[in-house]
Amino acid sequence: MNTTPTGTARSAPERNAVETAEPAEVLRAEGVTVAFGRGARRKTVLHGVDLSLRQGHTVGLVGESGSGKSTLAKVIVGLVRPVSGHVALDGEDVTGPRGRAATLALRRRVQLVPQDPYASLNPRMTVGEAIAEAIDPRRGGLARHRAAVEARLAQVALDPEAADRYPAQFSGGQRQRIAIARALAVEPEVVIADEVTSALDSSVQAEVLNLLTGLRRSLSLTMLFISHDLAVVRHVSDEVAVLRHGRLVEHGPCAEVFGAPREPYTKVLLASVPGRGGSA
Ligand SMILES: Nc1ncnc2c1ncn2[C@@H]1O[C@H](COP(=O)(O)OP(=O)(O)OP(=O)(O)O)[C@@H](O)[C@H]1O
Ligand SMILES: [Mg+2]
Repeated sequence: MNTTPTGTARSAPERNAVETAEPAEVLRAEGVTVAFGRGARRKTVLHGVDLSLRQGHTVGLVGESGSGKSTLAKVIVGLVRPVSGHVALDGEDVTGPRGRAATLALRRRVQLVPQDPYASLNPRMTVGEAIAEAIDPRRGGLARHRAAVEARLAQVALDPEAADRYPAQFSGGQRQRIAIARALAVEPEVVIADEVTSALDSSVQAEVLNLLTGLRRSLSLTMLFISHDLAVVRHVSDEVAVLRHGRLVEHGPCAEVFGAPREPYTKVLLASVPGRGGSA
């Protein structure tokens, strides 16, 4: 009998102990550098960004306009190729050259909900057809998936009849809820919400945010929530990451970063939040 304990046998329980203490990492961006343009006009907009998303956690990504938030989102969903660095989903590198089928598969695993739902909803498809396609892109149609489509609509507080109407027949807030329902219908591993409420009136903003926070809890979503509004990020996120001029300058639990920011830039951002550091 061989009684010599192997390294693997010893380390497995240790690994499990770590995993129960902290949710598993689902997505990791490592050293992501992105540049646009050629020659003298070439500009680096992301400089070696590291970011990790853990199962069931929402990371709020903040930073002023032009800091590179949307670019990072596009790298993660494969719309922009980094010049160096990579993104791994469940440990698998998803940033290398890929065939069309692999790209389509990745698009399903990470869903981007953009600022303008017109960009994600086909105006010539009924809402029901769009959600049915998200549920099953191969065998489809609304007729086959009607019950599932209606359940998805109910999840975002829309009537079953919404399935038979076109995106243009809805208000901005309703369209954004449809875009969220469609993204979630794919059952993605990660949701990226890029300024999902910034195009909406403030009352409608609150409605969409409350919906999103409710879904995030009930579905235990792993989410990157991008916004330049720190009050909103604080309401929605477990962790906050701060991007400045393409560099990630701070990342930690919301309570820590909001309570005691380390970076001077984060302090400046926080000072502009109503209800903090002033009488507003
Ligand atoms: N396709 C592109 N070609 C050239 N430059 C680009 C491209 N996309 C983004 N940029 C530039 O990259 C920088 C970062 O843009 P990005 O859209 O990521 O910023 P952001 O943080 O999302 O800003 P906002 O808060 O305004 O949405 C900006 O200077 C922008 O002009
Ligand atoms: Mg943006």
